[in-house]
Amino acid sequence: MPSSTDLPLQCPVCSQALSPAGGQGTGPARLACASRHSFDAARQGYFNLLVGKGTPFEPDTAAMVEARFTFLGQGHYKPLADAVAAAVVPCLSPGDGAVLDSGTGTGHYLRTVLDTAAAQGHDVAAMGIDISKFALRRAARLNPEALNLVWDVWQRFPLADESVDAVTVVFAPRNAAEFARVLRPAGRLVVVTPRPGHLSAIAAVTGMLGIEEGKDERLAAAMAQYFEHESTSDVDITLSLTRREAADLAFMGPAGHHHSHADIAARLESSPEPLSDEARFRVLVYRPLKAA
Ligand SMILES: C[S@@+](CC[C@H](N)C(=O)[O-])C[C@H]1O[C@@H](n2cnc3c(N)ncnc32)[C@H](O)[C@@H]1O
Ligand SMILES: [Zn+2]
Repeated sequence: MPSSTDLPLQCPVCSQALSPAGGQGTGPARLACASRHSFDAARQGYFNLLVGKGTPFEPDTAAMVEARFTFLGQGHYKPLADAVAAAVVPCLSPGDGAVLDSGTGTGHYLRTVLDTAAAQGHDVAAMGIDISKFALRRAARLNPEALNLVWDVWQRFPLADESVDAVTVVFAPRNAAEFARVLRPAGRLVVVTPRPGHLSAIAAVTGMLGIEEGKDERLAAAMAQYFEHESTSDVDITLSLTRREAADLAFMGPAGHHHSHADIAARLESSPEPLSDEARFRVLVYRPLKAA
């Protein structure tokens, strides 16, 4: 049975193999290489492998992460999580399946992937990476069987070439070159993006940012050097939310960087309850060009 600690990790300092050491039951106490670079597990179980500075980035606050965790835990986006899992599970290698969730956040989508894979008889090694330690605290609790690493997706991943069957990227930054490098030749990249009209009713009330024009074209151009597009499916979810749920939903996104939760809740006060909106997602599946 593959374990997440069997994933071929590479030391972020010297690129030698990084192996688990110490600890019992709940996962390794540290990761260390032959040159004695060593990374201790945080109390919550994740590892911070970032040695230098990450990309300048305004991290989600602890309160935004909690709003995301609460909202996603209510199951409103289950059809999307199921669609991601349905794209991932068929490409898992029998016996040693491995998945990377890049920009894993609270680990919500990886959880569904792992549960769906297990229900279909797959044992899967998994890694979640994110630059936010607040998010990883949550992810490490939700997905204790995965390796949860603080890492910057714009740096070379601490993972050997061709080591995973699937990379999932749900509303998170996309480093196409690194995704292609760590994917096995028969692997797949699964990308989720919002479509025009996504949450437009809540956006109109709360001042959430809309979707930039030309996003699809930019994604296609960024992927073209490393990936061949395989399939697209749209997932539309009609939401019926309490004002509190709508406030969490708005606050967990970019609006949370500009407005307090209380401010967003105040804007929603005169909205009807339940509040109706439409979540519009696109799930894109890509094949690495090296698959040829
Ligand atoms: C909109 S959230 C999505 C999280 C999760 N995939 C989900 O859908 O619930 C975007 C995530 O990308 C992470 N992120 C942003 N820039 C990053 C970077 N340079 N490296 C790693 N993670 C990054 C954020 O910390 C955040 O957790
Ligand atoms: Zn090292």
